[in-house]
Amino acid sequence: MARNLFVTKSLSDLLQEAKDNKAGLKKTLTRLNLTTLGVGAIIGAGIFVLTGQAAAQYAGPAIVISFIISGTACAFAGLCYAEFASMIPIAGSAYTYSYATLGEFLAWIIGWDLILEYLFAASTVSVGWSGYVVSFLNDFGLSIPTALTAATGSILVDVPKVGWQELTDNLVNGLSAQGISADTLPHVHAIINLPAMFIIAILCLLLVVGIRESANFNNIMVITKVTVIILFIAIGIAFVQSGNWHPFIPKNTGEWGHFGWSGILRGAGVIFFAYIGFDAVSTAAQEAKNPQRDMPVGILGSLTVSTILYILVAIVLTGIVSYTTLNVADPVAVGVNAMGKGMFWLRPIVKIAAIAGLSSVILVMLMGQPRIFYSMSKDGLLPPVFSKVHPKYKTPYISTLLTGGVAIILAGVLPISILGELVSIGTLLAFAIVCVSIIVLRKTRPDLQRPFRTPMVPAIPLLGALICIIQMLALPLDTWLRLVIWMAIGFIIYFSYGIKHSKQRIKNQNLH
Ligand code: ALA
Repeated sequence: MARNLFVTKSLSDLLQEAKDNKAGLKKTLTRLNLTTLGVGAIIGAGIFVLTGQAAAQYAGPAIVISFIISGTACAFAGLCYAEFASMIPIAGSAYTYSYATLGEFLAWIIGWDLILEYLFAASTVSVGWSGYVVSFLNDFGLSIPTALTAATGSILVDVPKVGWQELTDNLVNGLSAQGISADTLPHVHAIINLPAMFIIAILCLLLVVGIRESANFNNIMVITKVTVIILFIAIGIAFVQSGNWHPFIPKNTGEWGHFGWSGILRGAGVIFFAYIGFDAVSTAAQEAKNPQRDMPVGILGSLTVSTILYILVAIVLTGIVSYTTLNVADPVAVGVNAMGKGMFWLRPIVKIAAIAGLSSVILVMLMGQPRIFYSMSKDGLLPPVFSKVHPKYKTPYISTLLTGGVAIILAGVLPISILGELVSIGTLLAFAIVCVSIIVLRKTRPDLQRPFRTPMVPAIPLLGALICIIQMLALPLDTWLRLVIWMAIGFIIYFSYGIKHSKQRIKNQNLH
């Protein structure tokens, strides 16, 4: 039994599956589409929301170094993803890679774990989207009742000059630092987050209609956000006051993680979220025209573009204003405000870019999840309905609608701050396993054709796995407990369904 758990799927079967995709997914994505899908998934809440908060609370201007550290770790994992994606161009991403190397049970763990990344990230980011849309509409005098703009049960307070904000520990601390007690401010109890639910529903329908249509929409969103970010950097440079960069690494307050080098490390852990998404490119492998050649370009190209933009935004933002003012939901807008009245025209444009950016992140996350379900169902680990492809649109429509349905509920009613950390721990686990799998497969199948090879194996995969594990260890105990509970639910499903229906297992039994 124990040995059975590690049954692997043969590489030749996988490659055969990739070839005969007759009634399956439509192969339309080009190299450029794959790169924009990656940029679409990566640049979002991380840069538009988290950068400022991490600079203000943990790293100061040295958040730039945090970006470099986190980006390096992601580059190591990205190189490993690129090798796998060029070698096994199947929709299942890390799930499929581990099925071929570490065995079915670990593959199930990864597949189940990836739900934390894709599905939960879609919900988390849709809440950020809702915040930006509400604020954008407010600028034009249009308002949605506040109680309909946040998760059920959360308390929203009307903060002077800032507007309605969710009452979090951070906000309470920030207010009390200014001598304001949150209890004295007007507040409402939220009923549901309707805008967040709305955007997920719309994007799901788009994904059902077609991968090419979705990729085209994504292209427009990506062009918008990247253009505005470049505009912000180009204009912002002129407003930098170098005094804001001194001290570049603020002195540690005496508490681990609050400035100094420990703050830089904690900052790196927080902004890891900003890099999540490049791996989503690999879930579209079966819809790529030439996956062997183009997957590495899509994964590594999107990661490189995003890393450069992140570092430049961080340098400019912390140069325009003091990092201490950036602990807000819209730090880039604070940067624009500081440029003075003459630059106010840039404010709505930045908000539009944020809305576009967050839309594309949600879209690509909602695209990735059903494709993992598709592969798991093709392997028999999930019921066949998950791999049903729409006869006309050629998309995995049932799993797309199911993913969307669950994401809508999570976005509308659950406290998202909890889900955000689950997204990070789930993604880090997947990255670590992919890195280890590269080393395993180089040993067990050195003969395989590898159109792209990770350089310096085993050093790069080992370092990649190590940094991911360290970042996981830095996350709070609560997050670990939730991960364990999530995995326990996964085990129950695997042992009551997957293990009995696994096609690989049935095939092996028939052979003996
Ligand atoms: N990297 C994505 C974001 O920043 C998840 O929103």
